[in-house]
Amino acid sequence: MDDIQQYLEQHREAFEDDLCDLLRIPSVSADSRHRDDLRQAANWVFGQFKSLGLAAELVETAGHPIVYAESPPVDGVPTVLVYGHYDVQPPDPLDEWISPPFEPTKRDGNVYARGATDDKGQMLTHVKSVQAVLATAGKLPIQIKYLIEGEEEVGSANIEPFLESRREQLACDVIVISDTSQFGPGRPAITYGLRGIAYYELRLTGPKQDLHSGTFGGAVTNPLNTMAKMLAALVDNNGRIQIPGFYGDVVELTDAEREQFAALSFNEASFMKQIGVGGVSGEAGFTTLERRWARPTCDVHGFWGGYSGEGAKTVLPCRAGAKFSFRLVPNQDPKKIGESLEQMLRSLCPPGIKLELIDLHGAPGVLVPLDNPFMSAAAKAIERGFGTAPVFIREGGSIPIVNAFAEKLGADTLLLGWGLDDDNTHSPNEKFCLADFHRGIKASAALWDELGKLGA
Ligand code: BES
Ligand code: MN
Ligand code: MN
Repeated sequence: MDDIQQYLEQHREAFEDDLCDLLRIPSVSADSRHRDDLRQAANWVFGQFKSLGLAAELVETAGHPIVYAESPPVDGVPTVLVYGHYDVQPPDPLDEWISPPFEPTKRDGNVYARGATDDKGQMLTHVKSVQAVLATAGKLPIQIKYLIEGEEEVGSANIEPFLESRREQLACDVIVISDTSQFGPGRPAITYGLRGIAYYELRLTGPKQDLHSGTFGGAVTNPLNTMAKMLAALVDNNGRIQIPGFYGDVVELTDAEREQFAALSFNEASFMKQIGVGGVSGEAGFTTLERRWARPTCDVHGFWGGYSGEGAKTVLPCRAGAKFSFRLVPNQDPKKIGESLEQMLRSLCPPGIKLELIDLHGAPGVLVPLDNPFMSAAAKAIERGFGTAPVFIREGGSIPIVNAFAEKLGADTLLLGWGLDDDNTHSPNEKFCLADFHRGIKASAALWDELGKLGA
């Protein structure tokens, strides 16, 4: 391990340079204009695996390519599958970035760029750790397989068929994902729960073209008014979602878990300061951490139609649209929720409005078992990498593939996140703390070592 440590110290700059190379590729999966950039990012990741001497493959899908790689089998010890994503969220609004999103820039110990923490920087820690082990020990203590995809940010639609068709090749004992966060600076964490998601677009169409609101208003249903009513009907004043049956399958928090959340010494004042708000609200009867990690929610992401240019225009718009999603907790089924939602919206739809509900993507929530040797190995590895033992947390974000891994490969996932809640993921000025990048690489190398100490 001393050799590895020395290698890591000597290669800090080289690792950061490699990360910056990847961050320069604008691999925005939601935007079809970036198709070639996604392929370039996939090729870059593929090139990393090739240069480590691993068997690697660029797998074509109906969407963006999947990068698969594996090291040779090692008998008598666990096999690990590392999952990550090379795609990123759109960078807009562009004028709010201090340095451009695809020109990685180092400032105050961080690297700023779209994808820095989500997930290029975090994913790369598991590549660089293997580079260090191979360069110093010549071989890995365990077999590592990599599955790096380019469609996580758009719902991972093409990876399930891949899992299905490659069950044997992907066979593993445990999955490792670094695409979550620490509890705070200097407080590394293992995440044992994620929320799921059910994401929709709603389109309402009224008259065949925009109308004068004086001539027609009051007698013709306005799609934007209807949209506002429908969206408002989704949640009541206590933060309870109003879709019939919505809470039927919710796994409630146990008292023990609520106590554990409370014991994490979450500071609400600094949370409010971090996001720049003077107050918080949410489902009545739950704390902020409970609301964020373990309760379902509804958020509108976009809402359009009519006139929003300068001055006043008296128009009765002919159409309205909205994008919104529900975060789900374990055991809620996105399909069931979609059906119930559609029924509810149709029942609220007045005469003269055509309603179209599009299911954009869905994934169930996740809870992973804590009581197994892989968790203990991960906790030891984090302590070795970060100098502090991890706390166990849940998080509110979603990683669609985790349930499919459990179902299709029969393996549980270790969610070992090196990010921070103030990394500005999905927003302007995304960053990743460079010290955490290096600690993550160190923890990753320690993880291969700890897992190698476990019998299969
Ligand atoms: N890395 C995030 C997931 C995440 C975010 C986990 C915050 C824990 C805390 C991932 O890249 C992501 O953004 N997922 C999407 C999934 C969606 C597009 C299906 C999300 O959560 O919105
Ligand atoms: Mn991510
Ligand atoms: Mn993301």
